[in-house]
Amino acid sequence: MDTEQVIQAESRYLVHTYNRPPVVFTRGEGSYLFDAEGKRYLDFAAGIAVNALGHAHPSWLEALQVQGGRLTHVSNLFHTEPQVELARRLVESSFADRVFFSNSGAEANEAALKFSRKWAGLNHGEGKAEVIAFEGSFHGRTMGALSLTHKPAYRRPFEPLVPGVTFVPYNDLATAERAISDRVCAVFVEPIQGERGVYMADPEFLAGLRALCDQHHALLVFDEVQCGLGRTGRLWAHEWTGVTPDIMTLAKPLAGGLPIGATLVTDPIASAIEPGDHGSTFAAGPLICTVASAVFDEVSRPEFLQQVENNGQKMRAGLLALGEERIVELRGRGLLLGMQGNGPVKPLIEAARQGGLIVISAGEEVLRICPPLTISPEEIDAGLQVLAENWNMLGRVDGD
Ligand SMILES: Cc1ncc(COP(=O)(O)O)c(C=O)c1O
Repeated sequence: MDTEQVIQAESRYLVHTYNRPPVVFTRGEGSYLFDAEGKRYLDFAAGIAVNALGHAHPSWLEALQVQGGRLTHVSNLFHTEPQVELARRLVESSFADRVFFSNSGAEANEAALKFSRKWAGLNHGEGKAEVIAFEGSFHGRTMGALSLTHKPAYRRPFEPLVPGVTFVPYNDLATAERAISDRVCAVFVEPIQGERGVYMADPEFLAGLRALCDQHHALLVFDEVQCGLGRTGRLWAHEWTGVTPDIMTLAKPLAGGLPIGATLVTDPIASAIEPGDHGSTFAAGPLICTVASAVFDEVSRPEFLQQVENNGQKMRAGLLALGEERIVELRGRGLLLGMQGNGPVKPLIEAARQGGLIVISAGEEVLRICPPLTISPEEIDAGLQVLAENWNMLGRVDGD
């Protein structure tokens, strides 16, 4: 099928949940994507912060090919070594004692919600089932995760959602303090709010939440689905803040493009969970876990993380050098950056695509930069050059 035929067929056969640009990707290699017409694009989106090692990375591909020929799936009714290998890596590199695997970020948060309620009920009695989440949050689209997601447009058509969730302004500790009570079992927070437009939590805010959770015997849950696993230049985004959660959820980059979610917990939480409480047919099969361990082994190397930090600084400086008169604010850390424009960023995104650069938004007015973590300094320069050529598509901050 050519590009037109794919788009036509899609409009006939798919439920319309996404507005897509008129391009059909057929291949990826490193930091580049190729479309059905053979045109090459530099990828500053990485499948929304997923393709951590870019496309068809040699270690990723080898893991996929070797394990694919050996064993892909047996369900969670049976033991497999790759699942244990991945869990060991996650536990040994974090605060957590144990891992529950699922298939996506939303599912990782569903598990965190269920585990929090069960832990609270067992340890502190029934009725301790309320949750605090934050304005601007995004935790996923399934009913439980959606209940923790703030955006009214995502929630309203599907109400009633899971009850007992209170939203508090992000980075507003005083309001959180007023909202929390002994009936709260968990506080869900993104150390960086990605979907909202790349807003970072103040370290003091997270430290304050930690203290409030301790005071009220509630669990602190960090959703690192987007900002975790090396994206900020540290393995976990919360390492920058010095605050440790009780639960951390992961997904997007974990298997470098294959679906997986993980809910990392401490032993007291794990002790509340028993066989039958939760599960998944597909989660963490041997193929996905072998690939995820290969991704983890690359991303967790100190030199790799240092490179992400260096490249993040280069990207940030390069964006500012394009012309600060069109930048309201540049937020984020490492290779998760949000550039707030003075108006919609869609025209710039479309022009960049025509110029051979794939870049995405986070909200109407924020350009989100989240390339493969393996991007090179030369590729960063090449992408910035495309943005430079189209920079005047952004409004000037002073309105001229
Ligand atoms: C912070 C955060 N949590 C959860 C999710 C949901 O992940 P998924 O789309 O894999 O369900 C996302 C997706 O963008 C996210 O950014």
